[in-house]
Amino acid sequence: MSVNLTKTSLKNHNTFGIDVNAEHIIYLTEIEQLKNINNLKDCMFLGGGSNVLFTKDIDQTVVINQTKGIKITNETSNTVTLEVASGEVWHNLVLFCVKHNFGGIENMSLIPGSVGAAPMQNIGAYGVEIKDVLLALEAIDLETKTPKLFTNTECQFGYRESIFKKRLKGKYFISKISIILTKNKHNINTLYGAISDVLSAKEIIKPTIKDISDAVIEIRQSKLPDPSELGNSGSFFKNPIISTKHFLKLKDKFPDIKSYLVNKDEVKVPAGWLIESLGWKGKRVGNTGSHKNQALVLINYGSATGTEVKKLSEDIKLSVWDTYKIKLETEVNII
Ligand code: EPU
Repeated sequence: MSVNLTKTSLKNHNTFGIDVNAEHIIYLTEIEQLKNINNLKDCMFLGGGSNVLFTKDIDQTVVINQTKGIKITNETSNTVTLEVASGEVWHNLVLFCVKHNFGGIENMSLIPGSVGAAPMQNIGAYGVEIKDVLLALEAIDLETKTPKLFTNTECQFGYRESIFKKRLKGKYFISKISIILTKNKHNINTLYGAISDVLSAKEIIKPTIKDISDAVIEIRQSKLPDPSELGNSGSFFKNPIISTKHFLKLKDKFPDIKSYLVNKDEVKVPAGWLIESLGWKGKRVGNTGSHKNQALVLINYGSATGTEVKKLSEDIKLSVWDTYKIKLETEVNII
């Protein structure tokens, strides 16, 4: 374990590239090291830093999770179970699975962040969420420093939600996850329009796991800015869920508004559409702005402060509220 006692910039530890300092950083390479840290409960845990917006210097100890390991723990004729350390980079896990033709997470290619952060907010893309493959996870109780196993059901997954963002917020550190994938009879998911468009353009009729992953990578690279070039945290807001009644009223006034069915009483509205319709897409405000290809993504043009990005997000929220009476919720953790 290396401990850094001088103030260190967290600029390279958050994909927004916000330059704030941490009082004290610990790089965690083995889970056992947690036992030696005092006041674990008061630490801030960071994986890839892909879902945070720092608005101030951090006076807590920042623990940067760099634990590694992907292990096969069980195999049947058509399934494989992997145990993965939470500090692995999510996309490296996807690439490992694509290379071995293990199916189930290829639609979630190129999502920034770490494996441990993935179940926290039930990451998802192109019709698949981590909850679809997660068997269980191990998390360390920050009070007692003991591990506890959580089954998929116990994680209480929802849309970009889990028990770790709600009732157990700040109480556990996810140390490893266990996922079950297919080895040959894959459930190829091309329902998301953009994937089938890319595949037909390439005249692929029977896509492999790799074809799907390549298609997703192509789509994401065409729309989403690469954090190493332009600081961002992916979708800044969640897609809001509103009542069907509210939606029908809006549809009368704004016939182009888009929606996805959630259940008979509710629909999900793409926040990207709402934000674009109000003229924010591609608009630059000082050192920040909404991305030109995906309005839901806020960006740091280089030297933005977290406060500037937060202010822009609040202005966007207000304008969406004024026009549509829809409350946007942030997906990113603002600290
Ligand atoms: N749209 C616009 N303008 C925009 C962006 C989107 O009108 O600037 C419309 C599109 O035309 C489309 C709809 O909104 O009809 C949906 O757009 P898109 O397919 O880009 O997906 P999204 O709903 O904006 C969600 C996830 C993404 C994920 C994609 C693909 C959330 C908050 N975001 O975005 O996840 O990659 O679907 O599955 O659910 C992330 O969470 O960081 C993230 C990038």
